[in-house]
Amino acid sequence: MNVAAIYSFIHTLWAVPSLVFSHTARVSPDISHFAVHSLPNSSSLPTSWAGRLPVPQTPEGNSLFFWLFGAEDPAYDENLIIWFNGGPGCSSLIGLATGNGPVHFDGNSTRLAQNPHSWTKLGHVLYVDQPAGTGFSTASIPYPVSDNDRVTSDFYRWLQSFFTHFPNLRSKRVHLIGESWAGIYIPYFASAIVNGQDAFPINLHSISIGDGTIGNPAAMSTVTIGPYLRSQKNTLQIPDDVLAVFTEADRACGFDEAMNAANQYPPNGTIHIPGDPENLNYKRHAKRKLGDFVNHTCNSEPATADAVRTAIFNSTCQGPCATFSTAADYMTTVSASGAGKPCHDVYDIHSDCSAIDPLNQLASYFSHADVQNALNLRRPDDKSPPVSYSPCNSSTLTTLLSSTPPTPPAYHILPTLVTENNISLHVYSGEYDMLLNHFGTELALQNMTWNGRQGFSRKPQPFYNNDAAPARPCRDKETCAEAGIWASERGVTYHLFWGAGHTVFAKKASEMFAYVRDVVAGTR
Ligand SMILES: *[C@@H]1O[C@H](CO)[C@@H](O)[C@H](O)[C@H]1NC(C)=O
Ligand SMILES: *[C@@H]1O[C@H](CO)[C@@H](O)[C@H](O)[C@H]1NC(C)=O
Ligand SMILES: *[C@@H]1O[C@H](CO)[C@@H](O)[C@H](O)[C@H]1NC(C)=O
Ligand SMILES: *[C@@H]1O[C@H](CO)[C@@H](O)[C@H](O)[C@H]1NC(C)=O
Ligand SMILES: *[C@@H]1O[C@H](CO)[C@@H](O)[C@H](O)[C@H]1NC(C)=O
Ligand SMILES: *[C@@H]1O[C@H](CO)[C@@H](O)[C@H](O)[C@H]1NC(C)=O
Ligand SMILES: *[C@@H]1O[C@H](CO)[C@@H](O)[C@H](O)[C@H]1NC(C)=O
Ligand SMILES: *[C@@H]1O[C@H](CO)[C@@H](O)[C@H](O)[C@H]1NC(C)=O
Repeated sequence: MNVAAIYSFIHTLWAVPSLVFSHTARVSPDISHFAVHSLPNSSSLPTSWAGRLPVPQTPEGNSLFFWLFGAEDPAYDENLIIWFNGGPGCSSLIGLATGNGPVHFDGNSTRLAQNPHSWTKLGHVLYVDQPAGTGFSTASIPYPVSDNDRVTSDFYRWLQSFFTHFPNLRSKRVHLIGESWAGIYIPYFASAIVNGQDAFPINLHSISIGDGTIGNPAAMSTVTIGPYLRSQKNTLQIPDDVLAVFTEADRACGFDEAMNAANQYPPNGTIHIPGDPENLNYKRHAKRKLGDFVNHTCNSEPATADAVRTAIFNSTCQGPCATFSTAADYMTTVSASGAGKPCHDVYDIHSDCSAIDPLNQLASYFSHADVQNALNLRRPDDKSPPVSYSPCNSSTLTTLLSSTPPTPPAYHILPTLVTENNISLHVYSGEYDMLLNHFGTELALQNMTWNGRQGFSRKPQPFYNNDAAPARPCRDKETCAEAGIWASERGVTYHLFWGAGHTVFAKKASEMFAYVRDVVAGTR
C-alpha cells in the first residue's frame, strides 16, 4: 500500500468519531477515578492521572494505558507534550523513568527520586503505552495490530477519546516527541491529526524525532555505517585493516557518492541509493524483512578483515553490500571473544558493562501490586496477582517489523506536514548511537524537499548548552560547553548532540531540557 492509500484509509475514519464525540464533548466524563494520589517509594509527584482508556470502535479488550502529568510551571501551561518510546512495542514509561519524567530511579534501586530536568516543567506531559499490548496497554485476542495503519488509527481514535475525558487540554499547543521507531509513529499520527482537523480540531504545533527511523532503512543503516565507523574509530577500537574493508565496500557499492551528495549544502538534486543494499531498500520490495534484520540469523561472527570482506560481499543471507549487518556482527563478535572493545552497546557505543540496566528496574518496580494500585490498574482489594509488566513486547516488535509491504518511511510525509500544515519539525541525534547513526538522519534530511527547496543550505553550526542561564542565550565558547551542532531552515531543525547515545536525555538531560524548552516555546 502506498502513502496515498494510507491517507485515504485514514480519511474514511474521520466522520464516525466526530459524530460520537460531538455530543459527548459537552458533558465531559468524570476523571476522578484516574487521579494518582501517591506512588510507592517515590518522592512527591506533580498532579497526575493514570489508567486505561478503551480504543473506541475496536473489539473489547483493546485499551491504551496513559499517565498524564499537569504542567508544574504556569508559564508553560499552554503546552501539551506527548512522549513516545519506539520499539515498536516499547512502553513510554521507559522515557518517563529514564530521564524525561518527574521522577527517575535512584541509582540501581527501585526508589524514585525527583528529576530536576523533568519535562513536566515545560508543559503538561502525556505518556501513552501503544500500540495495544505494549506495556500496561491491553489487546484483544487474537492480536489485532498487524500493521502501521492499525497502529495509527487506534492511536488517533484513542486520542480523541482522551481529549473528551480531559477537555481542558483540547486547546493546548500539542507537541509530539519521541525516539527510535517513533520516527514512524509520530509522522503518521501527525498526518492523522491534520487530516482530521475539520472533524476534530487539535492544535498540533510541532513534532520532534530523536534517533528516529525517518529514512529508507538502506540509507539510514547500510549506506552510512562506513563513515560512522571511521568517525568513531577510536571509541569502537576497530583495527585499520578491518576499517579498510568498509572503506573498500563504500567505494565498490557506490555509498561514497551518496554520502558526498549529502555533504553538499545545499544538495544538488535527488540522492540515489545504489541498488538494494542488504535487501533493505524498501522501494525494491525488500526480500529481507526488517524482522529478519534484527533477528541475527545471518551472523557469521566475522572477526578478521577477510571474514568481514566475505560477510559484506559474499553473504547470500544478508544480501548485497551488507556493511551494516557486518559491522554490528563484527562488534559483537570481537567484544564477546575478548579481542575488541570489552562491551558493545549498539545504542550507545560509549556505555560500558557496568552500566545499570533501567529496563530491569522498570520491570521490577511496575510489576508491584501497590504500584499498579496507585496507577489505577487494579483495585486495592483485588486478591489476584499483579500483571507482570514488560518494558518492551517482542512479539509486537516482530509483528510490526515483519508487516508486508513495509511501512513507507516518514520522509515521504514529513515535507507535507511542514510545507502544507505548518507543523514545526525537529529532528535530533545522539553522536554515540550506532543503530540509527546521525549520518543516516542527515542523509534522509538532505534528500528531503520542504518549503520549496531541498535540504539545508548551510552546514550545521555549533550550539551551546544554555540551560544554566535560561534568560540569557549563551554565545560564548569560553563559559559554555559546545553541546553539538545544529541547522534550522524553513521550519525544520536538526540537532546533533555530542556525548549522547540513542536516548539523548539519558546522558544529556540538561541539554535536552533546554532543547525541549525551545521547541515548546517555538524558538528553535
Ligand atoms: C505482548 O503482547 C501480546 C498481545 O497483546 C500479549 O499477548 C503478550 O502477553 C505481550 N507480551 C508481553 C511480554 O507483555
Ligand atoms: C548538479 O547536478 C547537475 C545535474 O545532475 C550537474 O550538471 C551539475 O554539475 C551539478 N552541480 C554541482 C555543483 O555539483
Ligand atoms: C531520496 O528521495 C528519492 C525520492 O523519494 C528516493 O527515491 C531516494 O531513494 C532517496 N534517497 C535516499 C538516500 O534516501
Ligand atoms: C528469525 O529468522 C528465522 C529465519 O529466517 C525465522 O525462521 C525466525 O522465525 C525468525 N525469528 C523471529 C523472531 O523473527
Ligand atoms: C564475492 O563478492 C565479490 C564482489 O561482489 C565477487 O567479486 C567475488 O567473486 C565473490 N566471491 C565469491 C567466492 O563468491
Ligand atoms: C542492579 O541490581 C540488579 C538486581 O538487583 C543486579 O542484578 C545488577 O547486577 C545491578 N547492576 C549494577 C550495575 O550494579
Ligand atoms: C520499595 O523499597 C523497598 C526497600 O528498598 C523494597 O523492598 C520494595 O520492593 C520497593 N517497592 C517497590 C514497589 O519497588
Ligand atoms: C506557522 O506557524 C508559525 C509558528 O508556529 C506562525 O507564526 C505562523 O503564523 C504560521 N503560518 C501560517 C501560514 O499559518
